[in-house]
Amino acid sequence: MNPLWKQKELVEFCKAKGVHLSAYSPLGANGTKWGDNRIVECDVLEEIAKARGKSTAQVALRWVYEQGASIISKSFNKQRMRENLDIFDWCLTEEESNKIIQLPQHKGVTLASILGPHDLVLEIDADL
Ligand SMILES: NC(=O)c1ccc[n+]([C@@H]2O[C@H](COP(=O)([O-])OP(=O)(O)OC[C@H]3O[C@@H](n4cnc5c(N)ncnc54)[C@H](OP(=O)(O)O)[C@@H]3O)[C@@H](O)[C@H]2O)c1
Repeated sequence: MNPLWKQKELVEFCKAKGVHLSAYSPLGANGTKWGDNRIVECDVLEEIAKARGKSTAQVALRWVYEQGASIISKSFNKQRMRENLDIFDWCLTEEESNKIIQLPQHKGVTLASILGPHDLVLEIDADL
């Protein structure tokens, strides 16, 4: 779950059922072979980040947090780890949230992007 893959239906379903949601790849698995840079290079997020003196990643993480989800982000870099934790003493304005809501959706992490299109073999046992 991230600003470019909002999981709207899942979020509503979980809210209705009292299920807490955890968001993996909130930065779109930026820099990995199965993810992409769409979040950290998103113009709208960058514009909000610049205006607020934050990073694009912080805006994305703050948005996920404001949806009531836990964040499962990953960094091997100490400075980015600190940056990613520094999202709890500020909030997005209504105008900023509205801009994020309008971002077109793109499923970044797919099974095929992890396994490769030719490695994916599904076997269905008719007896199961
Ligand atoms: N259960 C599942 O099915 C599932 C699926 C996917 C992922 N996960 C788990 O969820 C966790 C997070 O997933 P993910 O690694 O895909 O998440 P992510 O947080 O969306 O992406 C991590 C990538 O973003 C970079 N990054 C981190 N902070 C940044 C920042 N402030 N600015 C710019 N780039 C930044 C990291 O690089 P640096 O390390 O260089 O900072 C890393 O390449 C992982 O532990 C993963 O194992 C679980």
